[in-house]
Amino acid sequence: MSARKTVLSAIQPTGNMHLGNYFGAVKNWVDLQEKYTCYYGVVDYHAMTMPYDVQKLRTNTWDLITNLVAVGVNPENLFIQSLVPEHTELTWIFNCFCSYGQLTRMTQFKDKSTQVKDSGKEDYISAGLLDYPVLQAADILIYRADFVPVGKDQEQHLELTRDIAQRFNFQAGKEYFVLPDALYTETPKIRSTADPSKKMSKSAGEKHYINVFADEETIRRQIKSAVTDSGDTPAGKMAEGVENLFELIKATGNKTDYDRLLEDFHAGTLKYVDLKQVTADNLVAMTSGFIEKKKEISSDKRKLKDQVKQSSFEIRKRAQETVREVKELIGLMNV
Ligand code: AMP
Ligand code: TRP
Repeated sequence: MSARKTVLSAIQPTGNMHLGNYFGAVKNWVDLQEKYTCYYGVVDYHAMTMPYDVQKLRTNTWDLITNLVAVGVNPENLFIQSLVPEHTELTWIFNCFCSYGQLTRMTQFKDKSTQVKDSGKEDYISAGLLDYPVLQAADILIYRADFVPVGKDQEQHLELTRDIAQRFNFQAGKEYFVLPDALYTETPKIRSTADPSKKMSKSAGEKHYINVFADEETIRRQIKSAVTDSGDTPAGKMAEGVENLFELIKATGNKTDYDRLLEDFHAGTLKYVDLKQVTADNLVAMTSGFIEKKKEISSDKRKLKDQVKQSSFEIRKRAQETVREVKELIGLMNV
């Protein structure tokens, strides 16, 4: 009998969920739940590493939880990072097994610290931002995760996590932590419908993303105005904007529509109005289910909050077990 493998992933509580987040990450979380023991964190400690709005953090955390559950994440698999303080305890321990130089070389640290500097707030480049990947390593290793579904942008952080695990194991004289593997599942990269040369993202502005919980009219309007072909695409090649609409249809799972329209494209008979109509129909069919579920959850917010507090409490027991063993292994005190 082989035990179920463990999956850990996490997401920062920042703003709304758009189709890029859903198809690129969260849908995968939902699917993985069938095969693995999954721990999914809403990482509010990570959200403090950049200048942030204190008034919004807690609301964003609950909003993200509501959204995750509305699209199919099982509340039992969810935890809130700040409700499991062992993550920060393990972070301290890992800090002492992590090379300072390696942290300064992380591309995300370089990018984000430049971003803070460019906004004229150099003094706000926090030690937390530098330490961000160590907290991430603690998130992963505390549950002894086998797999970590992440995007390619997180590759370096995963490498660092493995380095920390190895260093720890060496110091402890025992292969205590398994080295986790990234799970780069095939997830689509969704582009902005307003400017297909960019990826769909919140930071680019309103028209560059489609909210997963947008009403039908908004989705239809945004897809209708999607940029398809600026006219300079060589014959037989698909323009990025057109490809993006195909990608969206495929991502909703409607293979029949996808195949039929692709045939039309190759035959040179594809009409962009039809492509847009079908894209919007499929998106609306999918998101209307999410909106329904969100309405249902939102009618009893207390219930969901209690549920996720409870699941964080249960998940914390696993984290406590690891920290207890870790302290034992490296000469710290347990009561
Ligand atoms: P962010 O909102 O940028 O922090 O991203 C949260 C998650 O969504 C990450 O795993 C990203 O890789 C994923 N994601 C964000 N935007 C897109 C996009 N346009 N296409 C695919 N995945 C995305
Ligand atoms: N750094 C990740 C991101 O920006 C979020 C994250 C925090 C994470 N802890 C994690 C992802 C642990 C995977 C595992 O997307």
